[in-house]
Amino acid sequence: MEIEQSCPPVIRLVWVDKGWARTYIARDKASGKEFVIVRPKVFVTRRIPSPGIEMLSKRCDVTVYDGAQALAREDLLKSIRDKDGLVCIPEDRIDREVLDAAPSLKAICTYSVGYDHIDVGEATKRGIFIGYTPGVLTDATADLAFALLIATARRISEGDRYVRAGKWQGHFDPMLMIGESVWEATLGIVGFGRIGRAVATRAGGFRMKVLYYDPDRLVAEEPWRGSEYRDLDDLLGASDFVSIHVPYSRQTHHLIGERELKLMKPTAMLINTSRGSVIDESALVEALKADRLAGAGLDVYEREPLDINSPLLRMENVILAPHIGSATRTTRMKMAELTARNLLAALRGDAPIHWLNPDAAKVRALSAAKML
Ligand code: DGY
Repeated sequence: MEIEQSCPPVIRLVWVDKGWARTYIARDKASGKEFVIVRPKVFVTRRIPSPGIEMLSKRCDVTVYDGAQALAREDLLKSIRDKDGLVCIPEDRIDREVLDAAPSLKAICTYSVGYDHIDVGEATKRGIFIGYTPGVLTDATADLAFALLIATARRISEGDRYVRAGKWQGHFDPMLMIGESVWEATLGIVGFGRIGRAVATRAGGFRMKVLYYDPDRLVAEEPWRGSEYRDLDDLLGASDFVSIHVPYSRQTHHLIGERELKLMKPTAMLINTSRGSVIDESALVEALKADRLAGAGLDVYEREPLDINSPLLRMENVILAPHIGSATRTTRMKMAELTARNLLAALRGDAPIHWLNPDAAKVRALSAAKML
């Protein structure tokens, strides 16, 4: 049946389950017959780019938190109470308390590829479907990792600060701002999934030697475009640059700690666009202070936003970005669209396009979620 929604929509109140609900009238195009649609209620924890909200608003009653600051916990708990669907971002902690506060929740779709902020096990037990956005942000994130790598190696932020401060006196100073070569250097990639491999592709253009380690692939797989598998310790000791691309989990918490940092060359640089807590940030600060590491390019931190008293802010050889790995116009648009499509599919009783927990359907059949 092809349905046509009245425009402007005809709104009626009908008794559904335990209360009155706002309904919209739709018409079957072929028969012209009118019927009632109960619009699912959706909460979006932060304004996301077009066309995400617009797509959702066509089919659902959407409430968007529009504040510039993070949504307060008590507001999240209040707003979620009567919602069928939730769109969240990595800074929202979607744990048991939130799920308890949302008895009608059928689907959670995160505007991110990372999902460490969601209690997946608990949501699955409750038959709540989770959608996420892999793939569409791979290249943007790999670009940023590589940008941080080059910027750290070639001291670009430091040079920018130097020029702006009016410190540049000589015409050409043979000793000024000497950095490290990227060309033909050795790059160690920790986490060789979609983004790790996209970084390796970029490294190929710089004729870098690529080593990789992945905690999920403990033995070498088939060779990947000339890259070599190494165990973590070997990779750390042999690399001029180490770039982190593992998802955060209990297993990857502080995967790079004091011991691992000590294995790295003192001329090496560490790049992180994954999650802050994969690196022990205090150990990193100590290694940088002691010149046991030459620099770092960071987009993510153990606590975000980064504390204004963090010693990292005072280090010239560290480049700091505000969690913008996926922040290109087209990528963010695709993420918004995919998030909306994931949620609309789940509310329609279809599998979300990128579905994290198909086991949830064992608890609540997909068709039981049918609302649209
Ligand atoms: C993600 O997708 O997990 C990023 O951290 C935000 O784009």
